[in-house]
Amino acid sequence: MRKIVDIGILVSGSGSNFQSIIDQIEQGNLDASIKVVVSNNPDAYALERAKKHNIPAVVIDHNNFNDRNEFDQEMIDVLNSYSVELVIMAGFMRILTPLFIKAFPMRIMNIHPAILPSFQGIHAQERAFDYGVKFSGCSVHFADEGVDTGPVIIQSVVPVYNDDTAETLQQRILREEHRIFPQAIQFYAEGKLEIIGRKVIVKDHKRIDETPLHNPPLTKF
Ligand code: GRF
Repeated sequence: MRKIVDIGILVSGSGSNFQSIIDQIEQGNLDASIKVVVSNNPDAYALERAKKHNIPAVVIDHNNFNDRNEFDQEMIDVLNSYSVELVIMAGFMRILTPLFIKAFPMRIMNIHPAILPSFQGIHAQERAFDYGVKFSGCSVHFADEGVDTGPVIIQSVVPVYNDDTAETLQQRILREEHRIFPQAIQFYAEGKLEIIGRKVIVKDHKRIDETPLHNPPLTKF
């Protein structure tokens, strides 16, 4: 029996990750149903995407609240009113309070455009590029009370090339975000995620080849 997981999506901006989740559901690849999308930004393009796909959208503008707890409580109430089981932070640019984290314990996933724990926080792709790393990538993790610190579910690694700019690197990472986020949600829907301490065990997956990557490639050794 397929289990369909009821998800709620938090967005602040363009919502291309939101779109990839919509697309995978519509193509029958992802066992999830988007109950509601919540945006803290009334002008987020993600809201247009919701409209196009007849997904209920709620704007909760953080500027209208006295403090973070009040704002988060409103989001909790909305998500609960749509019976959301799993919360997906898809480019949601607000830090969640402990109140929110406790309302959905290990039921909040976030995507971060770097290989955690490197480059936590904002502008991760640009900071990785400026640092001069040879590889970067993205991570999906469960949210905890820190910023980009929760247990990691899946990561994807991409190379950085000599002729990259921060923008081309960002685009390469984003293409992978669009693949690993639906995958992480699908693992959850299939009951494959077990959390032990800060480790997420993904059950029954193939072992990847033990092939070290080098960038630039080794020429002799
Ligand atoms: C993504 O790079 C995500 O990793 C970061 O914010 C960006 C959101 O992009 N947290 P989008 O709104 O999904 O297009």
